[in-house]
Amino acid sequence: MDTSQPLALLGGLSPDQFMKRHWHKKPLLIRQAIPGFSPLLDRAELMALAAKDDVESRLVVRKPHGWTLKQGPFSKKSLPPFKQPGWTVLVQGVDLHDEAVHHLAQQFRFVPDARMDDVMISYATDGGGVGPHFDSYDVFLLQAHGQRRWRIGRQKDLTLQDGVPLKILAHFEYEEEFILNPGDMLYLPPLYAHDGDALGECMTYSMGFRAPRTGELARELLACLAEEAVQVVGELVYLDPQQPAVTQAGAIPEALQVFARAAVAKALKDPQLLDCLLGEYLTEPKPQVWFESQAERELSWPQAVVLDRRTRMMHDAHHVFINGESFKAGGRDAQLLRRLSNDRRLDARAVSQFSSPALALLSDWCDDGWMHPEGAS
Ligand code: SIN
Ligand code: CO
Repeated sequence: MDTSQPLALLGGLSPDQFMKRHWHKKPLLIRQAIPGFSPLLDRAELMALAAKDDVESRLVVRKPHGWTLKQGPFSKKSLPPFKQPGWTVLVQGVDLHDEAVHHLAQQFRFVPDARMDDVMISYATDGGGVGPHFDSYDVFLLQAHGQRRWRIGRQKDLTLQDGVPLKILAHFEYEEEFILNPGDMLYLPPLYAHDGDALGECMTYSMGFRAPRTGELARELLACLAEEAVQVVGELVYLDPQQPAVTQAGAIPEALQVFARAAVAKALKDPQLLDCLLGEYLTEPKPQVWFESQAERELSWPQAVVLDRRTRMMHDAHHVFINGESFKAGGRDAQLLRRLSNDRRLDARAVSQFSSPALALLSDWCDDGWMHPEGAS
């Protein structure tokens, strides 16, 4: 993608301009971001997803005296009638289940994959919504069907209402109001207060992002590091030939504290190891994702390949990461694998340039269902 070229998706801004002016900073309303857009899944298809137990879904009902929240899966019978106003179903991770929604998400790859979370689709009857709230992450809200009225504000008071099952702002004050029609899109940075009300039957697609938190990252990386600790720091035994006799037997020797600190510092010393663990963590598939093995499929190299929509693949200067695994690659193989992670496909000519060990790896990935010969996915 040429990030200097204006995009209709961003209201005529280039990705460079959008990231500089709006990303993480201020909202952007884009009329006809996708002209003529119509839902990629109809209501019945969306409800079929909400009925599956490997799909995360929620039902929010607005009642005269408050809100109710239920977690899916939802059989058809467990949902309110479509004629009843004031309810909404929100289906998470639709891009993992539907090829067209996955392709829609690809249009937002001017943001690093490491930041992309998922596409959520909401279906609402008239007056449905999740109430005034804020999200911790950036979001693009694309109107897919019907109309939604968005009220948004920069408010500092993020106090939440007590005693409600949803995160609803206690004192919502909006500054702007927009009615979105199919194809219109609203970008909101993190912590921006918003409230979307369905005006009649409505579907909204949320392209949501994720941002790791320091505590979460430290916990995950240290847990992985712990598994490799013995290999990294060895098994040197604490020696104390200089230990004098003590009168306070309960006191921990200072030399033992220094020994412990040095052991941990040694484990943390290799920046490449931490980068490697980070890549593995970022490409780890979500818990509800599984791949169908394709081991019986005949492969004849070279042929064009495309990553499965569920595959998370990234790279850094020294490694490529795919679905929680890391590989050290160099030279031509590394170049081609980085290209695969950027473009999510490679043509037959590119594939013909891989070394035999790299081709064997590609065969394994095809067998595991992580990647497919193009046209066979
Ligand atoms: C919705 O689609 O109803 C809610 C999306 C959001 O506010 O983040
Ligand atoms: Co929101």
